[in-house]
Amino acid sequence: MTRFDPLLFWAVAAVLFFTVGLTYFFLSIPPTTEMANQPSIKPQEQPFLPPPQSVPIHGRERKVELLEASELKNPVEATPASLEQGQRLFAIYCAVCHGTNAKGKGPIAKKLITPPDDLTQTSTAEQPDGYLYTVIREGGDTMPGQAEGLSSRERWDIVNYLRSLQKIQKRG
Ligand code: HEC
Repeated sequence: MTRFDPLLFWAVAAVLFFTVGLTYFFLSIPPTTEMANQPSIKPQEQPFLPPPQSVPIHGRERKVELLEASELKNPVEATPASLEQGQRLFAIYCAVCHGTNAKGKGPIAKKLITPPDDLTQTSTAEQPDGYLYTVIREGGDTMPGQAEGLSSRERWDIVNYLRSLQKIQKRG
């Protein structure tokens, strides 16, 4: 009959403790986050890609590459109402980075790694309307896309407004 040996007991307990602990640590099995790792569709994820060459009949717009986007025609005439709406929306969605006068000096501009473009600069003004429209929708390297907050019509209103701020105006 062996006697209860506290030293042996603690030695075995310690080995067990470290083996289990280290296994968890190295396999990185967080015991309580399993539900987060289920194969569900996460917020902001597009569940299904449309088949190639398909066009939406209703609902969402097709994603357009910047090169192709430049060919988009601006369907909204630059009426005073459109410009007014564009100005209003620009102040809400864009001015924080690009500044109210679109010169790229908004209140948070300094905090960004890539500075926001001066949208009145020649290189931007020389871009076609479709390019501006698509940058607004898809965003850039740092600029967040504004597809969710603005309707198609509203984005064209902003394009019209930007044109009114630029000296050179290339449409089409
Ligand atoms: C969070 C800051 C931020 C907001 C908000 C933002 N932009 Fe930008 N934008 C940038 C930055 C930074 C760049 C340049 C780098 C890049 O492409 O991301 C840029 C680039 C652009 C360009 C490309 C200019 C060129 O010559 O290629 C356009 C056009 C533009 N923004 C328009 C807009 C409009 C219109 C809005 C509002 C609907 C807007 N941006 C909102 C940060 C922002």
